[in-house]
Amino acid sequence: MIRASLTFPKEFLWGTATSSHQVEGDNRNNDWWRWEAEGRVMQGQLSGRACDWWQGRWKEDLDRAAEAGQKAHRLSVEWSRVEPSPALWDESALDGYREILHGALDRGLIPVVTLHHFTNPLWVADRGGWANPAVVDWFARYARKVARSLRGLAGLWVTINEPNVLGVQAYLRGEFPPGLRNLRSTVTVLEHLTLAHAAAYRELKAVDPDSLVGLAHHFRGMIPSHPANPLDRWIARLRSRLFNDLIPSALVDGWFRYPGRSRRLDVRGRQDFFGVNYYTQERIAFDARRSGELFSRGLFAPDADLSGSGFLANEPVGLWSALGWARRFGLPLYILENGVDDADDRIRPRYLALHLREVWRAANFNWGVRGYFHWTIVDNFEWSQGWEQRFGLWELDPKTQVRRKRPSADLYGEICRTNALSSEDVARYAPEVLERIFPGARPKYLMLQRAGEQ
Ligand code: FCB
Repeated sequence: MIRASLTFPKEFLWGTATSSHQVEGDNRNNDWWRWEAEGRVMQGQLSGRACDWWQGRWKEDLDRAAEAGQKAHRLSVEWSRVEPSPALWDESALDGYREILHGALDRGLIPVVTLHHFTNPLWVADRGGWANPAVVDWFARYARKVARSLRGLAGLWVTINEPNVLGVQAYLRGEFPPGLRNLRSTVTVLEHLTLAHAAAYRELKAVDPDSLVGLAHHFRGMIPSHPANPLDRWIARLRSRLFNDLIPSALVDGWFRYPGRSRRLDVRGRQDFFGVNYYTQERIAFDARRSGELFSRGLFAPDADLSGSGFLANEPVGLWSALGWARRFGLPLYILENGVDDADDRIRPRYLALHLREVWRAANFNWGVRGYFHWTIVDNFEWSQGWEQRFGLWELDPKTQVRRKRPSADLYGEICRTNALSSEDVARYAPEVLERIFPGARPKYLMLQRAGEQ
């Protein structure tokens, strides 16, 4: 076989990502714990002990990450632990996070710290959550406290994870608490999340002007189902504008542009880097019957390579589009999440290799791509899908807490250690896409030779 490899820029930051509620366990004081207790998660599943990180199992998982050549780990601080009641701080929780961040640094992993990853303290939820304008100040106060307590320990700060997903899932689709389906509230919530990001940015920079602060923005590729159909084109563009562009463009020019509700917000330029979370791309078709879904339907391609639960399609070119789109912000780019649910590790190796090829292309076009964080190191509590979706490089049995390595963990380890994706690795872990990634790597005559041998 011809040997080739896609080499990444020096100092490229390789890591994995997690979030507090999904891995810590026993987060009893937030709106997700209550949502789970109300039986709102698939099959009535509960986060329970999750991956038992709060009791110390973060150590073994970060050991695994470091041994596999990773250079960074993204995790989140749980607001409900740090501030269990308004302006009452639990210093022991902050000590816990300090210990974890020092533990990461001792292992050679740069911490990327998220302040908000979907969960809210019960006291916030019970006062109207993100629909209440006061949440902006509450969040700023919390950000200030965390910034002071964990000063100097984060390589990058992420204020809010996927505000667009949070707004849509919690206020439009009813799948996250508080389970509303109301477009007006959704837009209000998106505006508050944008303001809260900017407020937290100011607090973090006031405490440490050298810190690097950004968002983790979920980009979902949306292409017209039939590109020749003007209605499909129009609706795909509209959906993408509202979901993908609304918040990032407000941070660029200070305009929150929503039909009939455009307004200026004091949020301009509050980002030091741009974080992209990318999972999949869909085709959008106009559908006059679906007024609740903006007169449209999102579908995967008929021949799509679907994930274990059918939740995601393997569409690597969408990551290339996402990075091309994000490049316009002129900021360093980090892919802060990318991965696939796949309990059997059937699709993950090729998903990983194909997506990294797009990252490599973008990095080598000098688009400013600085790092990649795979979601996730170990199976964890997957929100409304509970334990039914397995995104881990390592498999977890939540009852026994036993972890088992999936082949993708070795593939990702090779990539992180060598800072490259090689044809040998692809041939070994995802041979079905070798020709796509390294055209000609297995010349026909070799295959003929092999056929002749059989
Ligand atoms: C993202 C979330 C993350 C995880 C992955 C699969 O939208 O940020 O917590 O659930 O999806």
